[in-house]
Amino acid sequence: CTWHEMKTMMFIIRSDHTLNTICLPSAQQGEVESCTRRKVKRLLSFQRYCHASRLLRGLVPHTPGSLHLLDDDYLGQAAHMLSKVGTWNFDIFLFDRLTNGNSLVMLMCHLFNVYDLVHHFQLDIVKLHRFLGMVQEDYHSQNPYHNAVHAADVTQAMYCYLQEPKLAEQLSPLDVFLGLMAAAAHDVDHPGVNQPFLIKTQHHLASLYQNTSVLESHHWRSTVGMLRESGLLSHLPADMSGDIEAQLGSLILATDISRQNEFLSTFREHLDNQDLDLQLASHRHFILQIALKCADVCNPCRVWELSRQWSERVCEEFYRQGDLEREYDLEISPLCNQQADTVPVIQIGFISYIVEPLFVEWHRFTDPSPLSLTMMGHIHKNKACWNNLRCAAHTPTHSPTEEPEPEGGDEEVDDEIP
Ligand SMILES: *[C@@H]1O[C@H](CO)[C@@H](O)[C@H](O)[C@H]1NC(C)=O
Ligand SMILES: [Zn+2]
Repeated sequence: CTWHEMKTMMFIIRSDHTLNTICLPSAQQGEVESCTRRKVKRLLSFQRYCHASRLLRGLVPHTPGSLHLLDDDYLGQAAHMLSKVGTWNFDIFLFDRLTNGNSLVMLMCHLFNVYDLVHHFQLDIVKLHRFLGMVQEDYHSQNPYHNAVHAADVTQAMYCYLQEPKLAEQLSPLDVFLGLMAAAAHDVDHPGVNQPFLIKTQHHLASLYQNTSVLESHHWRSTVGMLRESGLLSHLPADMSGDIEAQLGSLILATDISRQNEFLSTFREHLDNQDLDLQLASHRHFILQIALKCADVCNPCRVWELSRQWSERVCEEFYRQGDLEREYDLEISPLCNQQADTVPVIQIGFISYIVEPLFVEWHRFTDPSPLSLTMMGHIHKNKACWNNLRCAAHTPTHSPTEEPEPEGGDEEVDDEIP
C-alpha cells in the first residue's frame, strides 16, 4: 500500500467504527444490559450477538474521540516493514503498534495488492475495506492470544508458505484469495476459552454446533455472515460465491486441533506415495488446509524473541480460563492451572506433540526449502530454551538471599506487552 492509500484506509476504518458505535439499535442495547448482569455470559460475549460488550468495558481501542491521528512517521515505518512482508523474522507486534492496532487490515490490503486480487476478482475496494474492518473488529482485543494480531501473524505466515517454491507456481488466484481470507478470519470472534469450556457451561454455540468443532464452525459462519453483510462477493455468480464460502469453511475447520491426526496421516500417506498432484484443485485445497494448520501453530518456528511472546500470551489466556473455572467451581481444564502448569512445560508439550510432527511432514513436502530449514532450526532452539527454563525453575542455582532470575531473563529483551 502506498502511504496515501494507508491514510485513506484509516479513514474508512474510522468512519466504519463510528457507525458501529453510534448506530446501536436500542433493542441491542437492551440485550447488552441484560448481558452485563450475567457475568459469565458477559465474559463470553460473542460480539455478533452482544455487540457493544467491548464498548461497555471501555476496551475499544479506536473510539473516535480517543483516536490520535497516526504519526506520518509511524505509517512510513509500517510501509517500510510491508516491503519485507515475506521475511520470516517479520515482527508483527511492532507492525501492529506502528499501525495503531490495524495490522490485520493493513496486511491484508497490502497482500491483495501484491497478488492483484482486487483487479482479478473485480472487488469493490470500499466493500473490501469494510469487510476487513469488520473481521478485525470482531476479534477480541482483550484476549491475550486469540486477537487480531494472532490473525495477522497467521496471515503473514500463510503468505510465506504460499511463496514456497514448491507451491507458488501452482496456485491460482482463487487459491491465494482463499488462503489469505481463511488465515485472516480463522479465529474471528474467539471468546478466549476453549471448546470443552463452552460445552460444560452449556453455551448456546455448543448446542448449535452439537459439541463438534464448535469454535471453528463459529469462526466460519461469522466470516460468511460478514462476507454477505459487506457484499464483498455479491457481484460474483451465486455458485462461485457459494463455492468460496464452502472452501473457506473447509479451510477454517481444518484448524480444529482435535482433527490433527486425521490430517497428519493423510499428509504422510501422500508424501510416502509421492502422489500429490498440484495440478488438481482438490490436492491444492488439501495443501492449503495443511499450510493454514502450519501457519496457525507456527509460533515455535519463529525467532525466540517473537516465539516467547506468543507462548506467554497463549498461557495467559489458558490461565484466565482456569481462573474463571475456579471462580465458578468448575473443574480446572488441563493446561489452565497457573500454579501447576508452567509456561515451559506447556510449550514443550505443544512443540513435541503438535508442532514438530506437523512441521516434520511440511519439511518433507517443501523438499526441504530454506524457510523449512529455518523453521526447524527455530523449533529445536526454542524447545531447548524452554527446557533450560524448566530446569532452572526446578533447580534454583542461586543462594537463598539472591533474587531469582525472572523467567526468560538472560539478555532477552523484555518487551512490554502492547
Ligand atoms: C454436548 O455435550 C453435553 C455435555 O456433555 C451433553 O449434555 C449434550 O447432550 C451434548 N450435545 C450433543 C448434541 O451431543
Ligand atoms: Zn488460530
